Amino acid sequence: MFITLEGPDGSGKSIQVPALAEFVRQLGYDVLTTREPGGTSIGDQIREVIMSMKNKSMNPRTEILLFCAARAQIVSEVIRPQLEKGVVVISDRYADSTLAYQGYGHGLDLKVLRGILDFATGGLTPDLTLLLDVDVETGLSRRQQGGGEWNRLDDYALAFHRRVRDGYLELAAAEPQRWVRIDASQAPQIVQQLMQEAVLRRLRPKV
Ligand code: TYD
Repeated sequence: MFITLEGPDGSGKSIQVPALAEFVRQLGYDVLTTREPGGTSIGDQIREVIMSMKNKSMNPRTEILLFCAARAQIVSEVIRPQLEKGVVVISDRYADSTLAYQGYGHGLDLKVLRGILDFATGGLTPDLTLLLDVDVETGLSRRQQGGGEWNRLDDYALAFHRRVRDGYLELAAAEPQRWVRIDASQAPQIVQQLMQEAVLRRLRPKV
């Protein structure tokens, strides 16, 4: 089973991943967690280029191709082989991030993006996508206070982040069988519990 976590910046996805992985392990499954961009040696090098504050002149098309290049690598090197072995893979961001950020955020054609994504992933789609939804102001103030490194992408204007969030809501509404929206402005333990409930509805405990 392939589970992805999506959400605007500061939605708190990353802190939820270890607990969710542990929960799935308790159900009796082998679990692998990954994050995007990055997650492989080649992907981490691409991540550096994408995130660097030195690269402020990066064209949105360049950005897409770099995200998708990193994704092609992690899908073939890690995600597919693990899924084939029966491992539950939990990815912090995946293809929907490209639709939300580059598509809705930067206004690039969604149909074209879907074609590029399909090429990069070989058509691999998540079985379950958890949308950790938070309004833009809350998300960005969490990012600023969180102590994590401020990167080039956080620097985009507020209006950009609003379009990203609205894009996520639209993507989730269009495919309700795959997406579960969780209100991530709630306390982290509650968010985690809702995530676990969503997983339990699709994954039968083995033990
Ligand atoms: P990261 O520091 O990993 O933060 P987060 O915890 O929010 O995931 O930064 C990832 C950034 O890259 C985030 O701003 C979203 C953006 N992004 C895209 O724009 N397109 C993509 O395809 C992916 C995977 C990420």
